[in-house]
Amino acid sequence: MSTKHSFDTAAIHAGQSPDPVTQARAVPLYRSSSFTFKSVEHAARLFALQEAGNIYSRLGNPTNEVLEARVSELEGAAASVAFASGTAAVFAAISAIAKAGDELVSASNLYGGSYTMFDAILPDYGIHTRFADIKDPSSFEKAIGPATKLIYVESIGNPSLDLADVPALSAIAKKHHLPLVVDGTFTTPYLLKTLEHGADIVINSLTKWMGGHGTAIGGIVSDAGRFDWSDPKFELFNRPDPSYHGLRWAKDLPGDLARIPFALRLRTVPLRNLGACLAPDNAWLFLQGLETLHLRMPRHCENALAVARFLKKHAKVAWLRYPGIEGDPSYALSQRLLQKGSGGMVVFGAKGGREGGARFIDSLKLFSHLANVGDAKSLALHPASTSHSQLSDEQQAQAGLSPDLVRLSIGLEGEQDILADLDQALGAI
Ligand SMILES: Cc1ncc(COP(=O)(O)O)c(C=O)c1O
Repeated sequence: MSTKHSFDTAAIHAGQSPDPVTQARAVPLYRSSSFTFKSVEHAARLFALQEAGNIYSRLGNPTNEVLEARVSELEGAAASVAFASGTAAVFAAISAIAKAGDELVSASNLYGGSYTMFDAILPDYGIHTRFADIKDPSSFEKAIGPATKLIYVESIGNPSLDLADVPALSAIAKKHHLPLVVDGTFTTPYLLKTLEHGADIVINSLTKWMGGHGTAIGGIVSDAGRFDWSDPKFELFNRPDPSYHGLRWAKDLPGDLARIPFALRLRTVPLRNLGACLAPDNAWLFLQGLETLHLRMPRHCENALAVARFLKKHAKVAWLRYPGIEGDPSYALSQRLLQKGSGGMVVFGAKGGREGGARFIDSLKLFSHLANVGDAKSLALHPASTSHSQLSDEQQAQAGLSPDLVRLSIGLEGEQDILADLDQALGAI
């Protein structure tokens, strides 16, 4: 499909035309683990990247390919690679760039699983992270050292809700010739075209708003196709790769493929050999979700703003964060970067601290108490005792998480019903 279409049209059409064989209009679900080769010569050409085509669904699948093409178009990316989860997507993106002895510079306000990966798991593989303060982009520059291979942030941090100054971080990344990798899960490309603001790679957990219905787990990495990997400091792209025929990714790729060495290495090394592939059934569900992303996101944002305004003046609320409400530390930046809305998440502390928050969560009726975000249904969680419980008190503070923080993912229900449930649950404190 032409790239001239609007976001709304691309969300419905990009990457697919009616099936030429069956005339099926919807994206067919290809539940096939493998695909036949026309000849031995054909098979060899596919494996040598001399010809595009389907081989085995761990490396690629026609249903997943539509999802990847659609997300690329929505993100303005050159190529995307889907994974079994957002977490697998984060690990694959990092491991495609960094090896033992390398370092990342990352925001400290991260989703708990990503923080644990960077702080407690990657060090066992020799990859270390220096954490920086998302509220102060210059702290990222100060943390850059000779072993740094990438800068990593979440567009809106989970659960602190601090908004990343992507253009300022991109300027620092460019100055030091480092890729800026942004987890855009909390904004989706509908609210923030991360790559247009200077990021090189954007990751989305499809599990959240992109899928939008709490029915499947998945993740995707999108490559702007702009970053120059030929600098020798990116050793994985410049040495003969023993995991792929001795290919030097930044030097040996033919024709158009030379534009996307990162996306190709991502598919042919971590996806192919570490194996966290997305099931085509889940790709199909995410395609259903994407078709209404542009209708759902404005409603998530409207409902979340209404909740933020309601909670801000509620007598039982001690403090509140929402990037789109006047007075929030991210408000000025949100007015600059998030012109279509500030997302569907609101966090707050109830009067009565942690006990008050627990009483509130246990009293909710319409909201579901569970560990997810970005569903059509409104959700609530106490991160300090769940999603971020692996972090020490000090790490939780660094991640912008206080013991009393209650995290709300605001759904698509009627505004009055959402506010009424919050009011009655606050009344129970
Ligand atoms: C910002 C962010 N990134 C990544 C992930 C991980 O995604 P998944 O649960 O699909 O592995 C999450 C999960 O909550 C998240 O909130």
